[in-house]
Amino acid sequence: MDSTTPDTHTVRAAVALAVRAPSVHNSQPWQWHWGGRTVELRADACRRLRHTDPDGRDLLVSCGCALHHFTVAAAAMGWAARISRFPEPGLLARIDLVPHDTRDADIALAAAIPRRRSDRRPFDDRPLPARDEVVLRKSASDQGAELRVVTEAPHRSALTSAAAEAAGLHRADPDYEIELAAWSGRDHAPDGVPARNAVVALAPRPGLRIREFAGARLPDTAGPDGAVLTILAARGDTPLDRLRAGEAASAVLLTATRLNLASCVYSEPFELTSTRNLVRDCVLGGRLEPQLVVRVGYPPKDRPPLPATSRRPIGEVLRPLPRPRGVGLPIPERLRGR
Ligand SMILES: Cc1cc2nc3c(=O)[nH]c(=O)nc-3n(C[C@H](O)[C@H](O)[C@H](O)COP(=O)(O)O)c2cc1C
Repeated sequence: MDSTTPDTHTVRAAVALAVRAPSVHNSQPWQWHWGGRTVELRADACRRLRHTDPDGRDLLVSCGCALHHFTVAAAAMGWAARISRFPEPGLLARIDLVPHDTRDADIALAAAIPRRRSDRRPFDDRPLPARDEVVLRKSASDQGAELRVVTEAPHRSALTSAAAEAAGLHRADPDYEIELAAWSGRDHAPDGVPARNAVVALAPRPGLRIREFAGARLPDTAGPDGAVLTILAARGDTPLDRLRAGEAASAVLLTATRLNLASCVYSEPFELTSTRNLVRDCVLGGRLEPQLVVRVGYPPKDRPPLPATSRRPIGEVLRPLPRPRGVGLPIPERLRGR
C-alpha cells in the first residue's frame, strides 16, 4: 500500500464507525465491500422490514445515514470520500478515498459518532438557542435536504395527529406487530431495538406519539415533553432523495450530539401513505416530501446516560470487493507463456 491508498485498519475502523449509524429498528440493512481506494455500499434487501417499510424508504434512509457516518469517520482519519451515488443498478454508492488534511471540525464530528444515542425519553422545555437551530438547519441543507422546525400550533397538531393515526393503524395490523416483536425487546442481540433503550409507555402525553417497541424497560418520566420537533424533508421522493435524506439525518444527529443535544428520529408517520400525505400537505404546504421526524432537545440534568445499542460484527458487513471478471490472481512466473 502507498500513501494514496488506505490500509485495512483504516477502512475497517471507518466502517466500524459507519455502522454506528441509526437504522430503522436497528436493522443495519447494509453491506460494505472494499478493495484498494474503493469502498462500495449496497442495501441488504433481506433486512428490509416488509410490513413496517413497504416502500423501502426507511431502508434507503438508514443506508444514507451510514454513508454519511462513513464520510465523517474517513475525514477524521485523513481520507476524503468522493461519492458517486447509484453509479450502477444495485449499488447505492461507490466511494473513492483520497488523502485529506484532517481538520479539528472533522475530529469533533467523528467524536460524536460513539456518543450519539436514540433518546426516546422526554426532554426539558429549554428552547434551542437560535444559533444552534441555524447550525442544525445548515447541516441538513449541506446534504441537500431541508430541516423544518415545526413551531406553529396547526402544524404541530397535524404532525402529532398523523403520528397518532399511524400508531393506531399499525397497532391494528397483525403483520406489523409480528415484525415489531421480531425486531425489538431483546437486550443481547446484535440487531433490533433493545428493551433497555425503549421507553415504557405510560399514559399518552400530549405531543408526538412515539413508536412502541416490544418489552420496553426504560422508565419514562411523567410530565410534558419539551422536545423541539423538526421534519427532515426532501424536494422529491426518489431513491436518491431518500439516500440523501439519510445523509442529512446523520449530519443533523451528529451536529446535535456535538452541541450536547439529545435526539431521536421517527419514521412511523411516514410509513403509511395517508399519514405521510397529511404531513406533506398540512405541514409542508405540499411542496416538500417528508422523510423523517427529528426530535431534539436538552435531556434533564440528572438523567442517567443510555447504553449503546449493539451492532453486527464487522466481518459480517464488510467483505472484499469481488474481483472484476477476467481479473484473476497474478500468474506465477513459471506458468507464464504456456
Ligand atoms: C430511517 C429510520 C427510522 C427510524 N424510525 C424510528 C421510529 O419510528 N421510532 C424510534 O423510536 N426510533 C426510530 N429510529 C431509530 C432507531 O430505532 C435506532 O437508530 C436504532 O434502534 C439504533 O439505536 P441508536 O440510534 O441508539 O444507535 C429510526 C432510525 C432510522 C434511521
